[in-house]
Amino acid sequence: MTRMRLDRFLAKCGEGSRTEVKKLIRAGQVTVDGFVCKDPGFSLDASTALVYVQDRRLHYREHHYLMLNKPAGVVSAARDRLNPTVLDLLPPEYKRLNLFPVGRLDKGTEGLLLLTNDGLLAHRLLDPKRRVPKRYRARVRGEVGEHDRRLFARGIELKDFTALPARLEILEAGAESEVEITVYEGKFHQVKRMFRAVGKEVLYLKRVAMGGLVLDPGLAPGEFRELSREELNLLRKWR
Ligand code: URA
Repeated sequence: MTRMRLDRFLAKCGEGSRTEVKKLIRAGQVTVDGFVCKDPGFSLDASTALVYVQDRRLHYREHHYLMLNKPAGVVSAARDRLNPTVLDLLPPEYKRLNLFPVGRLDKGTEGLLLLTNDGLLAHRLLDPKRRVPKRYRARVRGEVGEHDRRLFARGIELKDFTALPARLEILEAGAESEVEITVYEGKFHQVKRMFRAVGKEVLYLKRVAMGGLVLDPGLAPGEFRELSREELNLLRKWR
């Protein structure tokens, strides 16, 4: 049982700010269990009440989980004075849910970014002690070979820390190479710095998986969708 005021329920469902939803309620647009309710302070059980705005049923959820295919050119912060952020990609109803990105991708990096308002899950996924795997697809200038694979597996020494052993899969080797790399920590510019340490430059980087969650190939850059129950359960394993 989750008791709350009707105006809070509507705001939590993304129907607007507290002020906006109060207007909606007072205008007689909202029914609770079949009756028009004009009292924003009306107390209801969010888990069982049948709440409609006009003829649209609202489903209450404490937390929201979105999978975004982050495009290059936007920053993975909730706010930025200079650049568009990943939250700017969302329609208004999602903007009111206090979502934030779980971890960061560089401005030029594409791919899987989880947006949620579940602070506990985010904290666990980012906890360095849990060693949550993150898999990236990268195009690299220079021929990546077996020697690099072994260096990555041993743990690359960087200026300020030694990276944990990482798994490097070479998909194509040549003047430019195509690889997949799995790392178990999330330090600033980590993948780019690891390649730089072996004398190579990352030309393109895309995160394709994190903690068992795989980027939906049907999502074009800039597109997002809610996680399925199965996907969410994969992430909850890290709790
Ligand atoms: N490593 C990087 O270098 N950049 C990212 O955006 C993510 C991992």
